[in-house]
Amino acid sequence: MSETVNMSDRQIEYLNLTAELMSIRKRGDVPLAYIRTYGCQQNVADSERIKGMLKVAGYEFTENAEEADFILFNTCAVREHAEDRVFGNVGALKNLKRRHPQILIALCGCMMEQEHVAKRIHDSFPFVGLVFGTHCMHEFPELLYKSLVDGSRVFVRDNDDKKVYEGIPTCRDGQFKGWLPIMYGCDNFCTYCIVPYVRGRERSRQPEVIIKEAKEMIAQGYKDITLLGQNVNSYGKGLEPRPTFAQLIKEIDRIEGDYWLRFMTSHPKDCTRELIDTIAESKHISLHLHLPFQSGSDRVLKAMNRHYDRAKYLDIVNYAKERIPDVSLTSDVIVGFPGETYEDFQQTLSLIREVGFTSLFTFIFSPRTGTPAASMDDPVSDEEKGKWFRELLAVQEEIAAERCASMVGRVEKVLVEEKAKKEGRLCGRTSGNIIVEFDGDDSLIGDFHNVKITRARNWILTGEIAE
Ligand code: SAM
Ligand code: SF4
Ligand code: F3S
Repeated sequence: MSETVNMSDRQIEYLNLTAELMSIRKRGDVPLAYIRTYGCQQNVADSERIKGMLKVAGYEFTENAEEADFILFNTCAVREHAEDRVFGNVGALKNLKRRHPQILIALCGCMMEQEHVAKRIHDSFPFVGLVFGTHCMHEFPELLYKSLVDGSRVFVRDNDDKKVYEGIPTCRDGQFKGWLPIMYGCDNFCTYCIVPYVRGRERSRQPEVIIKEAKEMIAQGYKDITLLGQNVNSYGKGLEPRPTFAQLIKEIDRIEGDYWLRFMTSHPKDCTRELIDTIAESKHISLHLHLPFQSGSDRVLKAMNRHYDRAKYLDIVNYAKERIPDVSLTSDVIVGFPGETYEDFQQTLSLIREVGFTSLFTFIFSPRTGTPAASMDDPVSDEEKGKWFRELLAVQEEIAAERCASMVGRVEKVLVEEKAKKEGRLCGRTSGNIIVEFDGDDSLIGDFHNVKITRARNWILTGEIAE
């Protein structure tokens, strides 16, 4: 059973001590922190908590590492490419540290929970002063203070005490779109995936704490709230009495207000009809289901340890389509899992065609040290996998374009998010999470507006304000 513990007063004291120290040591008018986050929304949510603590310690934030007193990279270990980027970008800080020896460079997150990575940082990047893993967030104030006060290098990791820490201050990046973690860790051990090794065992937050936080966010004006967990469908495991995920979202859905509720990620093995019914009957839950299938081949799904087959996946999808008219389905898929043949890959393509996803996150298999798949026979060459990958992208592009084209002429409720990068238009998302661009005044940003869809360009819609 996971125990809930509040961050200790001692840690808050360390934040006050850091504030005193930094009032003397800052380079400019105020101490500045530069935080760079890699990886998934879980990491984004963690960075928001680190920012919350830094704010209490008197820091403000900058987008320019050159002027920062504290530089932190919150890292991701999910694929080799993500790790390579971190090593490259950390290496580039060497000169900055030489020019300003008083700055503190720190690394945290999933990569740091791997022993070989922490060792490489220790041995090859001597200018990195603080390294802490995903289980040490509640001790960050103490670790920060200690590395600042005596200048010695602090390395802490592998401390999975299976507790849920509450009371950590949060400083959210967005003002109307926000992340709300409901659980941490993962127990599924898909054979390709590093997450269970670096995030520890699954533990759920108490429903009362989540509901209170959701109420606060809605009162603060958040319009789009995403509940986060690696497998939200197994929410509640280890809690007494055990709530189901469907019960949790029903409770949140009762909160008054004009907002959308989203969640990710749903694991197909635990995705129930009760959950689909809850979405269909809810007031605020968006008409969007992110349901990673990873492969369309039963043989590969078994080797991945996913605990569902193609038929079960399609059964949930068909039920969702029946109960939630116009449901927008998105997914994750891996190409080139060890031992996957071209015939297996064709099964993936046929599943993509059958479901008609709005969009896909597509990955080429990347071996991760310590996972079972890393030592499986992998005879297909990188070139061949690259060819399959491009074939998949072409199929998905066609499907997304068809799906978007079918929306022309409709009026959609859109949350207006920002100015689009090109052409100075506004840009927002539908309940199904599809991007819509249209002309309008900046004052519309941050609220819902009805937009008539006039054109579809691949997976992006264009429209005009319909009010
Ligand atoms: N918990 C989520 C689930 O089960 O679907 C996914 C979390 S994972 C951080 C995000 C995606 O990364 C996975 O769905 C998978 O497609 C991809 N992924 C994970 N490990 C990978 C690997 N070793 N190589 C390539 N892609 C990987
Ligand atoms: Fe990784 Fe599987 Fe857990 Fe998702 S469910 S985080 S893919 S082990
Ligand atoms: Fe990466 Fe960790 Fe998320 S490995 S994908 S940041 S849980």
